[in-house]
Amino acid sequence: MQETTTKKIYDIQSLVYDVTFAKLVKRRISEAIKHMNIAQDDKVLDLGIGTGASLGFYPSQGHVIGIDLSDGMLREARKKIREQNIKNVTLVQANALTLPFPDDYFDHVFISHVISVVSDPVVLVQEAQRVAKPDARIVVLNHFQSSNRFVAMIEKWLCPLCTRLGWRSDLALPELMRKTKMQIDYRYKLDVLDLWETVVMTNNKSALAGV
Ligand SMILES: C[S@@+](CC[C@H](N)C(=O)[O-])C[C@H]1O[C@@H](n2cnc3c(N)ncnc32)[C@H](O)[C@@H]1O
Repeated sequence: MQETTTKKIYDIQSLVYDVTFAKLVKRRISEAIKHMNIAQDDKVLDLGIGTGASLGFYPSQGHVIGIDLSDGMLREARKKIREQNIKNVTLVQANALTLPFPDDYFDHVFISHVISVVSDPVVLVQEAQRVAKPDARIVVLNHFQSSNRFVAMIEKWLCPLCTRLGWRSDLALPELMRKTKMQIDYRYKLDVLDLWETVVMTNNKSALAGV
């Protein structure tokens, strides 16, 4: 799905996102953010922050920059920042595939339910690697294709339907890791049958340089 289409879909979804999908994923988001171990004055990038479902969970000592394509999603996030008087978050409208930030800038990058939404997940991870400092933590929260062949077949079959809703159901984690040379520190699901998974990685820049 191309970014112009995605933007339109999420402008519409912004009207119902907080009372639908956000309710399903908030607990996972709050847990995942703890795995970044955000310290005093750390800079955190929240890629595709959406309506700001993550906003209540960041500790006040770090500074968060949230970026998103969609005006509608950002409008809802701004509303939360105003209403909750949040001081340590800045929102920027930007494309996660061409980030307007210098190399080695962030201490942590959070990618929550975005990697299977963008047109090119590999470029998304590469951009996160570029703007993150060496050894920064990159935490990805997403649904990935099942390793069970039967379930994976159903996920592929459901993909056209999911695409209409703004995401794909058949993103394979091993292939993404191979293409980006990222290594997983650990990964976990909150419940055994959970559809979503949290993947915690360290930004290994030397692997990228082929050293
Ligand atoms: C499923 S929502 C997830 C929102 C939030 N991270 C969460 O977990 O609730 C996907 C978000 O990614 C944004 N998005 C999709 N493609 C993007 C891109 N290329 N650049 C920036 N944001 C993008 C959408 O506008 C939408 O807000």
